[in-house]
Amino acid sequence: MEDRNPDLNPSCQEEPFDYSLRPQRLPEYIGQEKVKARLEIALSAAKLRNEVLDHVLLFGPPGLGKTTLAHVLANEMGSPCKVIQAPALEKKGDLAAILTNLEEGEFLFIDEIHRLPAAIEEMLYAAMEDRKLDILIGQGPSAQTLKVDLRPFTLVGATTRAGLISKPLHDRFGMVHRLEYYTRGELTVIAERSAKVLEINMEPKSAEAIARRSRGTPRICNRLLKRCRDYAQVKGQGAITVEIADACLTLHEVDELGLDSLDRAYLEALCVKFRGGPVGVRTLAAALGESDGGALEDLVEPYLMQIGFLDRTQQGRKATEATYNYLGIKQQGQANLFNA
Ligand code: ADE
Repeated sequence: MEDRNPDLNPSCQEEPFDYSLRPQRLPEYIGQEKVKARLEIALSAAKLRNEVLDHVLLFGPPGLGKTTLAHVLANEMGSPCKVIQAPALEKKGDLAAILTNLEEGEFLFIDEIHRLPAAIEEMLYAAMEDRKLDILIGQGPSAQTLKVDLRPFTLVGATTRAGLISKPLHDRFGMVHRLEYYTRGELTVIAERSAKVLEINMEPKSAEAIARRSRGTPRICNRLLKRCRDYAQVKGQGAITVEIADACLTLHEVDELGLDSLDRAYLEALCVKFRGGPVGVRTLAAALGESDGGALEDLVEPYLMQIGFLDRTQQGRKATEATYNYLGIKQQGQANLFNA
């Protein structure tokens, strides 16, 4: 199986933070209107009361702007924001050091918060609720617990897997927001804004072409824009015309729906090898040469479900009529290969 092109793929989560393209303040942040409206009220109320913002949990597929939104919230409160990937926290001391060093009002953004080790997650409960930290000093019978007061802070947790957040952690967030895929119109505005920031000359129709193939995801939209900029400089006169955008997107095997080679391999395996399912995600992953189903669940399936090309049932993954139409193949008898 061909790998998903890393340039265009949302799995490479932590690319260098592209400050130039990321909106800094809430009014510049395009889309997610309901989430923004709720956050605007919470921000204004916190400012009126001279309090820190309540802890926020953001969930949704990769590339929709969770990190960006955390920075935007910190900027709106006039506070700095520390960023940490949950898997990087290995020992309780790692989190204790970060929490005790937070300034008053500072934001702590924990990405992939569903991957926190259990002992560290438990430490967060008292930190979030009572702003207290229990630190164990020494070992054995002489060990003592030291209670440390923390300065008021805001935790922003982000996850692609809301279902993997434990209830005690979930309950300690004052706000839980789900980010949705962006509409084509919103992505067109994002492409136009990014082109302006990067000083790229682009035809309006090209912004629409890029938006249409961005899988509802700003990160992909900005990546496609950059690839089109390269293509325009090398093969054209520098401007992203519609012809240049189309040729570049075809070169990168991104089709009219924004689906790439991994999406197509997934759909073909589902419809041909497993005759439309139901089939377990781990069986599908094995057939595609993926080590487990995690990457498929995070990166491939959410968008395929969104566009109606996939049903996730208790028995396993199933193709839809639209899937067969897209692939241009006939529906066969049902398989029963559940093995998740
Ligand atoms: N760049 C990435 N995400 C964005 C968003 N939601 N609004 C504006 N620019 C963006």
